[in-house]
Amino acid sequence: MDPIKRIMEIREKDEKLALGLMSGTSADGISTVIVKLKGNWTETKFKIIHYRTKKYPEKIRKEIFKIFQPETGKVDNICMMNFVLGEIFAEAALETIDEAGLKRTEIDFIASHGQTIHHMPKMKKIYTYMARSTLQIGEPSIIAERTGILTIADFRPRDIAAGGEGAPISAYADYILFRSKTKSRAVQNIGGIANVTYIPRNSKPEGIIAFDTGPGNMMIDGIIEYLTRGKMTFDENGKIAARGKVNCKLLEYLMEHPYLKRKPPKTTGRREFGRKYIIKVVKRAEKMNLNLEDILATITKYTAKTIAESYRRYLPEIPDETIIGGGGSHNKTLMKMLEEEIGDETRIFRHEDFGIPAQAKEPLILTILANEAIHGHFNNIPSATGAKRKVLMGKIIPGR
Ligand SMILES: Nc1ncnc2c1ncn2[C@@H]1O[C@H](COP(=O)(O)OP(=O)(O)O)[C@@H](O)[C@H]1O
Ligand SMILES: [Mg+2]
Repeated sequence: MDPIKRIMEIREKDEKLALGLMSGTSADGISTVIVKLKGNWTETKFKIIHYRTKKYPEKIRKEIFKIFQPETGKVDNICMMNFVLGEIFAEAALETIDEAGLKRTEIDFIASHGQTIHHMPKMKKIYTYMARSTLQIGEPSIIAERTGILTIADFRPRDIAAGGEGAPISAYADYILFRSKTKSRAVQNIGGIANVTYIPRNSKPEGIIAFDTGPGNMMIDGIIEYLTRGKMTFDENGKIAARGKVNCKLLEYLMEHPYLKRKPPKTTGRREFGRKYIIKVVKRAEKMNLNLEDILATITKYTAKTIAESYRRYLPEIPDETIIGGGGSHNKTLMKMLEEEIGDETRIFRHEDFGIPAQAKEPLILTILANEAIHGHFNNIPSATGAKRKVLMGKIIPGR
């Protein structure tokens, strides 16, 4: 069938089955969701059918972490890994469809984020050209070819082309999912990086403020991995941090990070909170004779504090409600520390309280962005990304 005609047919369907594929800065694995979407824009209704996370094979994860670092990220490897990750994303999609007991012909479209390997949101002058850049790999043509399903992918570049930072892109979908007539809300995702979408009560999309608050799990994961020499990759349920003591001196030092003083719109990534910074912090902590438990307690507190402080500094108010999602919401110590920081001023919820499993949130967001793209709706929020205009994010690749 004429593939363009097929896209128009899908667009006209009242209900669509969509599959979201997401791997964030943690590079822990590919979170997937299959969701039934009805309608679009503020009329969007969703029903989650199935969700799961496919862990990256250890060898692949190591390769991705090599690519993250300018010193070890080689161009031939990046070129190849773009296609290899395409295969793994396609596999993740097919496994999810199988597990849900569905046929691939039942899925109307796939929305894929890809794997961010580098994010350079600050304007830089290269020769006579001013540029910022971001790169997500996991070739969507492979996904469309292996699954045969219409694939919408690579959302960020168009926002950058329009003058934005290409992030945070969840703001538009957060508005669809969480706006309220009576309550102001912060939708706080805690992935590798933590980002917030603030939606004032009874607000139009133009009222949204969204930015990265700082590190989410990135420093927690990085420190554990570094100090256990790769034996552990994260602090399950925050158990290790719970045994440590927060060191105020180290915390003070961490709070001096220049990113925290930058005004939104702003986004960050591994360049600022990745391996280099982690090693610097560990060295400092070791000079202070802190053990793994204390360092982790301090870093976990730091994550909570950067979230709370950024609300105080950059939001017009502490929101009535704060809804937490992402892998960090499973870290009990982090959640407790967040409660200590802002619990008196805001009511803290989890995405689960709104019927969205933490793991399914980000891939769900992508399916909503893709659904909007199919409907021809501009799906970035200029006040969040800093873009000069609204644009349609997402490259559309026909299925078979
Ligand atoms: N049970 C848990 N306890 C503590 N931390 C967890 C738990 N489950 C997940 N995480 C953290 O969440 C991270 C993954 O979160 P995720 O939302 O997938 O981030 P990203 O979008 O960056 O991939 C893991 O690397 C880990 O640090
Ligand atoms: Mg993840």
